[in-house]
Amino acid sequence: MNIGILGTGMVGQTLGTKLAELGHSVKMGSRSASNEKAQTWAKATGSNASVGTFADAAKHGEILFNCTGGMVSLEALKAAGEENLDGKTLIDVSNALDFSKGFPPTLSVCNDDSIGEQIQRAFPKAKVVKTLNTVNCQLMVNPSIVPGEHDLFVSGNDADAKAQVTTILKDWFGWKNVIDMGDITTARGTEQLLPIWVRLMSLFKSPQFNFHIAKA
Ligand SMILES: NC(=O)c1ccc[n+]([C@@H]2O[C@H](COP(=O)([O-])OP(=O)(O)OC[C@H]3O[C@@H](n4cnc5c(N)ncnc54)[C@H](OP(=O)(O)O)[C@@H]3O)[C@@H](O)[C@H]2O)c1
Repeated sequence: MNIGILGTGMVGQTLGTKLAELGHSVKMGSRSASNEKAQTWAKATGSNASVGTFADAAKHGEILFNCTGGMVSLEALKAAGEENLDGKTLIDVSNALDFSKGFPPTLSVCNDDSIGEQIQRAFPKAKVVKTLNTVNCQLMVNPSIVPGEHDLFVSGNDADAKAQVTTILKDWFGWKNVIDMGDITTARGTEQLLPIWVRLMSLFKSPQFNFHIAKA
């Protein structure tokens, strides 16, 4: 499958590497087609990897991953071009973390809105599915790093897109427990897990942990 990764940071690189290893054709997008991090990643990843602008990557992908900072995601997706997002499943892994005042970060969007909803409103024809934002990127593609039962969440308005993403999470990445939270407004809750997530990371001095929801 052709996959577009929007973002050249550690998340885009980790997801891109895993997807290329699985045999998919992955194009990583950036503000500049000659982005050095993307070029280095493509060289190291091999023939399934290529690079381009945000628009090139979005055009290439049948499925897209938004791996840009939550505060700049709308800007990146505008550069990707609405016509390249229309009708596609857009997996949004971003968080609304604002580090401008140092640690701990605050959330730039919260309570009655979320980055997932902002993206869905801005691009109504894209099928936005919020997921993976509550775990570290190594865990995204290798959940067995953390032993035992632990959970991932999906939020989105389109049932078919959520089912497709759940299959990707389970069959490609190895997730066992995926909780369908409901429509995209439920991304408010999962994005608002981040304040506790960053404090746990600081406490454990490691990002390799996850949430498990226990119920009667
Ligand atoms: N680190 C993790 O393990 C983890 C886990 C869960 C969720 N997340 C979330 O995943 C997302 C990606 O994280 P990351 O650390 O890999 O990357 P990042 O540093 O947050 O974002 C990198 C991308 O943002 C783009 N960007 C920066 N400023 C921009 C602007 N003004 N307009 C458009 N694009 C801009 C960069 O474009 P260029 O390529 O042009 O420089 C780059 O592609 C974040 O939202 C993060 O909160 C991270």
